[in-house]
Amino acid sequence: MKTVALYHLKGGVGKTAAAVNLATLAARSGLPTLLWDLDPQGAASWTLRAEAPEAAKPKSLWTGGAPIGQWVQETAWPNLSLIPADLASRHLDTWLRKDGRDTLATLLEPLSESYSLCVLDCPPSLSHLADNIFAAADRVLVPTVPTHLSLRALKQVLDYFAEHDFPKAKLRGFWSLADRRRGLHRALIEQPPKAMPRPYKAVIPYASGVEKMGEHRAPIEDYASSHPAAEAYRLLWKELKADLKP
Ligand SMILES: Nc1ncnc2c1ncn2[C@@H]1O[C@H](COP(=O)(O)OP(=O)(O)OP(=O)(O)O)[C@@H](O)[C@H]1O
Ligand SMILES: [Mg+2]
Repeated sequence: MKTVALYHLKGGVGKTAAAVNLATLAARSGLPTLLWDLDPQGAASWTLRAEAPEAAKPKSLWTGGAPIGQWVQETAWPNLSLIPADLASRHLDTWLRKDGRDTLATLLEPLSESYSLCVLDCPPSLSHLADNIFAAADRVLVPTVPTHLSLRALKQVLDYFAEHDFPKAKLRGFWSLADRRRGLHRALIEQPPKAMPRPYKAVIPYASGVEKMGEHRAPIEDYASSHPAAEAYRLLWKELKADLKP
């Protein structure tokens, strides 16, 4: 099983949109796929029409008291399973061991028997959870809006990787919420700055078609497959798939 995180220190940059679209495209291509919604906001879970079970006690999962299989739900999409978010997981950082980074990787281990790909939708923070994500993921995809503020936050992530000995080779950038009518967006896309780690070619456009995922509670491929944004997510998936090959 390969593990791919959608991560950025900055909020609202299209992490969840990319996580949902990539996971459903992978499942559609026949790969047994698991999406783990690690953000207590639960936007990915909601988009995929799932909720955490009422009796859920996420602390028992994170502290090793309950087997992870209990948390996995089927979705309406063939080949796609989900571990939904739970608001209680906002306390996650206090449950994770401060001195270790391997809790998430250990939890993921038994899932590799059932899944070929695990997509992690991550909350926007640099925390113990982020350390666990950076340790567990084979690739950390960073959706970056072509603006100076988004690039500054990206630089902070790169510095964090360097300071804490996470391999930079895991990081991949791609442009998100890109509006080619804006000069700055065009200039940055045409000439990606050095801070952009190994950028993918796919550029996700700013488009109301993507926002409508909330209305349809589905990936864009399901309701507007000829939309340029749907095409961009297909290219992103194609690049990621090639990049994951050994
Ligand atoms: N390409 C896009 N074009 C237009 N709107 C978009 C696009 N991608 C995402 N959005 C919208 O922008 C908002 C933020 O997107 P999303 O939830 O995917 O970002 P996020 O990085 O996961 O945010 P958070 O940090 O809060 O988890 C949502 O309302 C979403 O519908
Ligand atoms: Mg999100």
